[in-house]
Amino acid sequence: MTDHKFPHNFLWGAATAAYQVEGAWNEDGRGESIWDRFSHMPGNVSNGDTGDIACDHYHRWEDDIALMRRIGLKAYRFSTSWSRVLPTGRGGVNLKGLDFYDRLVDRLCAANIEPLLTLYHWDLPQALQDEGGWDNRSTAYAFADYTALMVKRLGDRVKYWTTFNEPSVISYIGFLTGEHAPGVKNQRMAYQVAHHLLVAHGLGVQTIQAVKPDVNAGIVLNLWPAEPASDSAEDVAAADRYWNEQETLFLDPLFKGHYPPSVYNMVGKDMPKIHDGDLALIAQKLDYVGINFYSRNVLSAKGKLEKIEGSEYTEMGWEVCAPALRRMLVKINSEYELPPIILTENGVAFNDEVGADGNIHDPRRIDYLKNHFIQTRLAMLDGVDVRGYMVWSLMDNFEWGHGFSKRFGLTYVDYITQKRIIKDSGKWYAEVIRRNEVSD
Ligand code: FCB
Repeated sequence: MTDHKFPHNFLWGAATAAYQVEGAWNEDGRGESIWDRFSHMPGNVSNGDTGDIACDHYHRWEDDIALMRRIGLKAYRFSTSWSRVLPTGRGGVNLKGLDFYDRLVDRLCAANIEPLLTLYHWDLPQALQDEGGWDNRSTAYAFADYTALMVKRLGDRVKYWTTFNEPSVISYIGFLTGEHAPGVKNQRMAYQVAHHLLVAHGLGVQTIQAVKPDVNAGIVLNLWPAEPASDSAEDVAAADRYWNEQETLFLDPLFKGHYPPSVYNMVGKDMPKIHDGDLALIAQKLDYVGINFYSRNVLSAKGKLEKIEGSEYTEMGWEVCAPALRRMLVKINSEYELPPIILTENGVAFNDEVGADGNIHDPRRIDYLKNHFIQTRLAMLDGVDVRGYMVWSLMDNFEWGHGFSKRFGLTYVDYITQKRIIKDSGKWYAEVIRRNEVSD
């Protein structure tokens, strides 16, 4: 047995996002968001599920902090709902919404849990969507104003600020496949949205630094490494091509100051409108970068492989391959000048059930997390500067287009009674945090 010891100040945490857990969609003055509109339209979400109630976290937040304490979390990553604090996206502030986040942050600090705040985890105010949403450049300026409001109110206690969660999912799934809100299928728009998100990120970082120079500003990217099916030159080339086309649209402008050449070729006439100075605005120095990792793509010269012989697959249909995480961290660390990394999401959906003894026995999730923790530690020993790890998720929640059918939590949620039960994996994670090491 080997013990993998982590640095003493390593930030062990768990993550959620506003729309996935809060509920209270129309309470206390909250405005409508694009996810309310999208989920209320039949056919968009499995089983007709919506985030109207979700985990009822808006009312149960104190119990949820108690849950975090039981697991011993050192950090909690959450997002704020823009339309809860600015119901129409700009202008009039909803003080009740702002007070909610103020109390949450206060109580986290009192519990010695570091808050990591994400300003945008996909829930644009519907009023801004009605004016064109992210296709309209003015949304980026509205985002900067919203950022200023939040940093002024919470920046004395929140030290980690994230502008955007997974801009590639917003662009590709929201605007290319249409499986996420606002459900658009339009290539021109998808790339224009991507650019406006990056502009909004740049403006957001400037705002954060102007309002509170001593806090940390970053962005969260999801990355799926593209790996070759064999060592053949053709497969390796196919994997490289796939990585360049799928994964560098945000990495390159953020950390190299230009769009990747592969994207110019792919996008052709749909290249977004870019203003002078945009690329410098986008490529500002960050204090950290968040990486979300779940799985990888495997490529052969013939294309993407659907199933890898001998591999385990999750409820999402994603291959389990922890060593790919280490390889990817090492790769991006050598190809880009990156700030310190926080793994802002990693976790797994399995078909969890409450056992006869009232507990949730989820050994496969324990294995998954254990192997990913170890691969992260090995990457750190390879020289990658990883400062923290947020497991997705603190609790089962509304998994976007899949509704409540996919359970990612360290805690089981009974959506009828809203009862929470810490799964075996949550108890195991508590031990990892307490010992600050993982054994294999
Ligand atoms: C990520 C999202 C997060 C959650 C996980 C499973 O793409 O950021 O909200 O849905 O996937």
